[in-house]
Amino acid sequence: MTTPTIELKPSSTPLSDAERAARMVNPGFGRHFTDHMVTIRWTEGRGWHDGQLVPYGPLSLDPATNVLHYAQEIFEGLKAYRQPDDTVAIFRPDQNALRFQRSARRLAMPELPVETFLEACDALVQQDRAWVPAHGGEESLYLRPFMIATEVGLGVKPANEYLFLVIASPAGAYFPGGVKPVSIWLSEDRVRAVPGGMGDAKTGGNYAASLLAQAEAAAKGCDQVCYLDAVEHKWVEELGGMNLYFVYGDKIVTPTLSGSILEGVTRDSLLAVARDLGLESVEARVSIDQWQRDAEDGSLTEVFACGTAAVITPVGTVKRSSAEWKQSGGEPGEVTLRLRRALLDIQRGVTEDRHGWMHSL
Ligand code: COI
Repeated sequence: MTTPTIELKPSSTPLSDAERAARMVNPGFGRHFTDHMVTIRWTEGRGWHDGQLVPYGPLSLDPATNVLHYAQEIFEGLKAYRQPDDTVAIFRPDQNALRFQRSARRLAMPELPVETFLEACDALVQQDRAWVPAHGGEESLYLRPFMIATEVGLGVKPANEYLFLVIASPAGAYFPGGVKPVSIWLSEDRVRAVPGGMGDAKTGGNYAASLLAQAEAAAKGCDQVCYLDAVEHKWVEELGGMNLYFVYGDKIVTPTLSGSILEGVTRDSLLAVARDLGLESVEARVSIDQWQRDAEDGSLTEVFACGTAAVITPVGTVKRSSAEWKQSGGEPGEVTLRLRRALLDIQRGVTEDRHGWMHSL
């Protein structure tokens, strides 16, 4: 397997400093994109080739391109942070590269070597480093690597050609309210993923499958939908695009990976960050009835959502068809905020990176 070295073809017309600065004020999530992108092709018999960093712009695809019909697509999300000395570092990109390989295996796609994934992210961040938000705030540069099947034809089979890309977007809070607690609608009939399916792969289909229930959540006045397992409709799995944590005093609990839950990098990091803070952190099955009971008797002190985009977002209200309750009185909980601060301090380089998570450029 060849490992392409990325050829740089920088844009001759990048945005002016003023135009870029305007897009970086309250950037929101995924609304503006930097000046460049990385593209690498894979062809059967040849492997990975033609790595390029090129001006950001539209793709031209034949209408019969495989991905448009059968959704052979995978993606990742990771963030680069400006450090106190003005250098830039990416949070745990090796973990995203490994998950990208696992997703590729599940979708019958070629695996991109970890070093090529890192090289692609580094090349884009280096080139567009002016787009990395200033140190000090909560903003970062969100990187979106993804891969699509580009073979032209309507046969249902693993494609013989693929395109890997990385694009980047300055990112603020995923939820418009920032750290304000979100409300959750419990979907008791629709499921996100099934055992033996692809719920643990990061593929667009899982997000498409979540949209109807997400719209139902919005119709109930909630910010996010929460899914239960597909077999017993009993065990809490995850939200539409993020994992969940339950706080019991000084113990935090996240649902055990079931095969239909996405293995979040933030989820994994928090198991360790919690221990650093002297908290107990465990993976365990949590049923929806236990959630309601423990919230009502007060033993469940806080609940929060976590993900690369969402960072750590407190859950304030939970609604299901038969009940509604508040978590931590609808306010951000103390443990949630401590974990959030500890994780962000590592990412922003203001505390010791004792796990060696930051990948400096
Ligand atoms: C992320 O947190 O990076 C995600 O992929 C969630 C979502 C925005 C799709």
